[in-house]
Amino acid sequence: MDILVTGGTGYIGSHTCVELLQAGHKVIIVDNLSNSRADVVDKLRTITGLTPVFYKADVENRAALREIFAAHRPEAVIHFAGLKAVGESCRLPLKYYRCNLDATLSLLEVMEEFGCKRLVFSSSATVYGPDNPVPYTESMPARVATNPYGWTKIMIEQILRDHTAADPAFSAVLLRYFNPIGAHTSGLLGDDPNGIPNNLMPYISRVAAGKLPHLTVFGDDYPTPDGTGLRDYLHVVDLAKGHLKALEYAAQHTGAEAFNLGTGRGVSVLELVHTFEKVNGVPVPYVIGPRRDGDLACCWANAEKAARLLGWTAEMTLEDMCRDSWNFVKNA
Ligand code: NAD
Ligand code: UD1
Repeated sequence: MDILVTGGTGYIGSHTCVELLQAGHKVIIVDNLSNSRADVVDKLRTITGLTPVFYKADVENRAALREIFAAHRPEAVIHFAGLKAVGESCRLPLKYYRCNLDATLSLLEVMEEFGCKRLVFSSSATVYGPDNPVPYTESMPARVATNPYGWTKIMIEQILRDHTAADPAFSAVLLRYFNPIGAHTSGLLGDDPNGIPNNLMPYISRVAAGKLPHLTVFGDDYPTPDGTGLRDYLHVVDLAKGHLKALEYAAQHTGAEAFNLGTGRGVSVLELVHTFEKVNGVPVPYVIGPRRDGDLACCWANAEKAARLLGWTAEMTLEDMCRDSWNFVKNA
């Protein structure tokens, strides 16, 4: 199948492109490189022996998208492109609403023009907001976010529900990711944020590499077994594979359907730190600091719907995640 992948040179997009290429799909990447590098395309070729088509273009740019659709007539789209930094979204909300909403609207309009009816969208566990109890199930209300980034995900989910209601032939799969970490086993692809990382695993890796002096654990007074926050970490390669299952689902169903992609298990900050140290044989010095504004104590998935309807379950262990994250940082 010819599949257009927006944001395909990014962290999750690049791992998904590996799986798509290895499964025999033709991959057309559209990315403006605002948070990734063009050499990812070479790395995809090195890993798979196959070459995706790459366009450096903004998904907000309808004229550019039209040319790409006219040249390739993709049967389905996986839409990763968007801005994702929670803190930045609070400082620059208009930038986030403009980018994430405009990109999606332009994409849907051009898909409509070319009769492309299948979309897999990168949503987030953040749509469950602060009020639902864990574990989160897809039937819970997902209507309150705590930051502009989260609001863009809620709004885009709604846009997709409205669009599929108006076009009964359209299929939108909303994948609500929990916390992807890890990297491709080749060590060529991984999460490589610019500047000081906000997220836990990239921060741990840089501390282990001696590039940052220590990790600050944001709070040890949560109502959890060791007092630190619990999250549902999943390996990015497992997550990537979920997109292939979502494409299969979209080929057989219409309408908008949400799925959690997580392991169903909560892991504490300290459990992740200690697993990383043990698996990789490197120390990760840390200090306990205050809670971070906006953080929840607990966030993990009920992952049964994806298992039942997509035939997808996360298979890789926390040890795999820690080993592969470190392997990527060591090679960088
Ligand atoms: P990423 O920043 O590594 O990848 C996003 C890619 O999109 C980048 O390569 C960037 O250059 C590109 N991009 C951004 N805006 C664009 C635009 N207007 N036009 C073209 N390209 C554009 O992020 P990621 O971690 O791979 O996340 C992918 C998607 O998954 C995002 O939508 C993100 O919100 C969502 N998500 C990520 C996480 C996570 O923990 N990483 C969790 C939940 C949801
Ligand atoms: C954050 C975002 C979420 C986004 C996700 C992936 C918030 C409130 N949520 O989730 O919307 O989908 O990133 O991009 O920002 N921690 C530390 N020290 C650190 C960093 C993190 O103790 O230096 C802790 C956090 O308090 C949390 C856990 O590690 O308990 C995971 O944090 P992080 O990786 O930032 O992910 P989330 O906060 O779950």
